Amino acid sequence: MPTVLITGASRGIGRELAVTLAAQGWQVLAGVRDPLAAPAGTHAERVDMADAESIEALARRLRARGQALDALVNNAGVYEQARRLIWDVNVLGPLRLTLALEDLLAPGARVVMVTSGLGSLSAQPPELVRRLGAPGLSLDDLDSMAREAPGGYGASKAALTAMARLFADRLRDRGILVNAISPGWVRSDMGGANAPRSLRQGAASLLWGVQLPADGPSGGCFEDGLPLE
Ligand SMILES: NC(=O)c1ccc[n+]([C@@H]2O[C@H](COP(=O)([O-])OP(=O)(O)OC[C@H]3O[C@@H](n4cnc5c(N)ncnc54)[C@H](OP(=O)(O)O)[C@@H]3O)[C@@H](O)[C@H]2O)c1
Repeated sequence: MPTVLITGASRGIGRELAVTLAAQGWQVLAGVRDPLAAPAGTHAERVDMADAESIEALARRLRARGQALDALVNNAGVYEQARRLIWDVNVLGPLRLTLALEDLLAPGARVVMVTSGLGSLSAQPPELVRRLGAPGLSLDDLDSMAREAPGGYGASKAALTAMARLFADRLRDRGILVNAISPGWVRSDMGGANAPRSLRQGAASLLWGVQLPADGPSGGCFEDGLPLE
């Protein structure tokens, strides 16, 4: 049975994806702050993505039981919050978690970084575009940038998209495909009631990245299987 870890599986798009994959026969590790919020049919894994120690504790638990991961979905995110929290949850959290779990990823695993159309590079200030596009950009650079928190939600998602590219390069030798994927504008607590897309449509966009064939893309940015930028 393939295993996936999905952060932010308590509600919204992450919960929908967790339920969908569980119904397809995956073992779903639901990354949640409150274990009681994990959907039925999944295994709750407590993690606060804003807390480095909580992320390390999750990695230690998984390592102690020899848990291989066939997919990792960095879905937890915050929108209208203080910049510090936005960069902690949307950028530092996925960076720390992916680094902490990279040796547990199975050969040929899939990693999805859940980005947003608001993170499109063309919508960012020129200085951020320059920094994210700099030749030789490294995960350490993204770590430093996240500690500065240079911008709001869109900037954090632009950084997450760049992170997907860097992890794609880093993990390519192991056949691991890493992509930034947007769910589109979805009716969740975050997206609000006026969003045009359902939770199911949002989750389907992410599902595409989890179920990519071995010769699928890596290091790209997509929505509904189509390149975003
Ligand atoms: N909705 C949209 O229109 C839209 C558009 C583009 C991209 N996205 C992205 O899609 C992803 C899911 O969004 P959504 O619409 O499903 O949002 P949501 O309904 O607000 O759910 C957010 C999820 O993130 C979790 N989370 C927040 N802070 C956390 C933390 N510190 N540690 C662990 N988990 C935390 C929440 O857990 P709790 O229940 O514990 O708070 C919840 O499960 C996000 O990355 C978002 O940026 C959404």
